[in-house]
Amino acid sequence: MRFDVITLMPALFEIVRGQGVTGRAIDRGRVHLELWNPRDYTRDVHRTVDDRPYGGGPGMVMKYAPLRAAIEAARASAPASPVIYLSPQGRRLDQGGVRAFSERDGLILLTGRYEGIDERIVDCCVDEEISIGDYVLSGGELAAMVMMDAIIRLLPGVLGDADSARQDSFMEGLLDCPHFTRPETVDGRSVPEVLRGGDHRAIRRWRLMQALGRTWQRRPDLLERRVLSQEEQDLLEEFKRSRAEAGE
Ligand code: ADE
Repeated sequence: MRFDVITLMPALFEIVRGQGVTGRAIDRGRVHLELWNPRDYTRDVHRTVDDRPYGGGPGMVMKYAPLRAAIEAARASAPASPVIYLSPQGRRLDQGGVRAFSERDGLILLTGRYEGIDERIVDCCVDEEISIGDYVLSGGELAAMVMMDAIIRLLPGVLGDADSARQDSFMEGLLDCPHFTRPETVDGRSVPEVLRGGDHRAIRRWRLMQALGRTWQRRPDLLERRVLSQEEQDLLEEFKRSRAEAGE
């Protein structure tokens, strides 16, 4: 998959390039990352990329011309990629959206700084606005990196088998179950019995029950949007019963 990122701060993307899952995916050629700096498309001696907003008010707005030229350059290199503008005004990203983006051949990610970008860029060149949550960052770069990380880990061959198993569809739309590693007991706290035995069916059911239970406790809104199978309904009832019995 190919990412073309339009940014005034290309150095920030060294994190994506140099570290962890995303860095490995780029090293192995599974992901291609290209950065486009609007400052390289200015024509004045000061290389101006921003200006005061019409109508007054605080902050600066990114100018149309350098952004447009940078987008056109990215598009010429990646003609099939849609232009996604990262902004708090966008559709909120969730795992379903991440999965859909991961099926594309490429994305052009447009990041803004200052108070935003000239709205005419959105009108002329943006296919979709995406937000990573209901809070305001000082620029779209971190949001683009969040989006890239979430997408890249879903690409076939990027995670090892052990990790990709965690994406099993039975966990879809639910919070994750608890995880434990050695030692078996620490500070008087023990790993649940079922995980210590080798009964894989029992382990799968326990994990699914925990995922359902946690989602019910912490994010009931997610359960409302999900149809539960008969097994899942039974496991959730069992979770609620065992909590009631424990007086929780
Ligand atoms: N830019 C600034 N805040 C943002 C957010 N919450 N999501 C995406 N891009 C942003």
